[in-house]
Amino acid sequence: MIAIYPGSFDPITLGHIDIIERGAKLFDRVIVAVLSNPSKKPLFTVDKRIEQITECTQHIANVKVDSFVGLTVEYAKLHHAGVLLRGLRVLSDFEKELQMAHTNKTLNHDIETVFLATTKEYSFLSSSIVKEIAQFGGTIDHLVSENVAQDMYSKYQNQ
Ligand code: PNS
Repeated sequence: MIAIYPGSFDPITLGHIDIIERGAKLFDRVIVAVLSNPSKKPLFTVDKRIEQITECTQHIANVKVDSFVGLTVEYAKLHHAGVLLRGLRVLSDFEKELQMAHTNKTLNHDIETVFLATTKEYSFLSSSIVKEIAQFGGTIDHLVSENVAQDMYSKYQNQ
């Protein structure tokens, strides 16, 4: 079974990597799919995010990194995936995630959303929090992979 792990990943955090590692044990292949959303102004370009994710998931054999535009279920169908993988951190995630899962089910009944509970130590972690800390000069080494931390430090140093 192929699983798609869709998201913004701006940037990928250790919490995301934890979900990818665990998903890769459950599914034959996990495709990490970066949403290219023209209405958002991301910190990193889609290409940069693909490069970052590729580097920090290179230890997992059955992971592929890609980007997509449009509906996640359409992308999943195109790649013969039966599952959308998502991480659940805290109760506040639940409402949005359930809405997305139900919406996707109405769009394609054959694709299931599978949630993995985020590992406890990353339950507070989000890309937004990482950006906020880095923006104000804080340390993010314990929250993201080394390559992403370096990219973040350079980004904010140059601003
Ligand atoms: O990392 P994020 O920002 O929480 O990921 C959200 C994402 C990319 C999974 C979601 O916005 C998405 O699937 N967008 C693609 C458009 C789509 O399929 N919309 C219908 C389902 S809500």
